[in-house]
Amino acid sequence: MGDGLIDVGALADIPPQGARVVKTAAGCVAVFRTADDRVFALDDRCPHKGGPLSEGIVHGTRVTCPLHNWVFDLATGEAQGADEGRVATHAVTVAGGRILIDAALLARRAVA
Ligand code: FES
Repeated sequence: MGDGLIDVGALADIPPQGARVVKTAAGCVAVFRTADDRVFALDDRCPHKGGPLSEGIVHGTRVTCPLHNWVFDLATGEAQGADEGRVATHAVTVAGGRILIDAALLARRAVA
């Protein structure tokens, strides 16, 4: 494990097609698990009107915002279809069943 990574919990704690919210100095980050056990981390704030993306529906590698149904690509954070906007994404990896996020990135943004 590198120095810049923080352990934000076990993969097993997030159900497939579910999410968990991690509170960081830079705000809340939503960590998503797909049906095929891939993990993505995005800001838990929809760029449309601030909806909690962690409460959205995960389908494939996308999530649908629970408020007005905008759809975002979990890998890029880009809004899909006609909607325009982007959610910040965070480097995330899984090692030994633990989910690790790049803490340095979060810290840099906290002081920006
Ligand atoms: S707040 Fe997410 S679609 Fe409107």
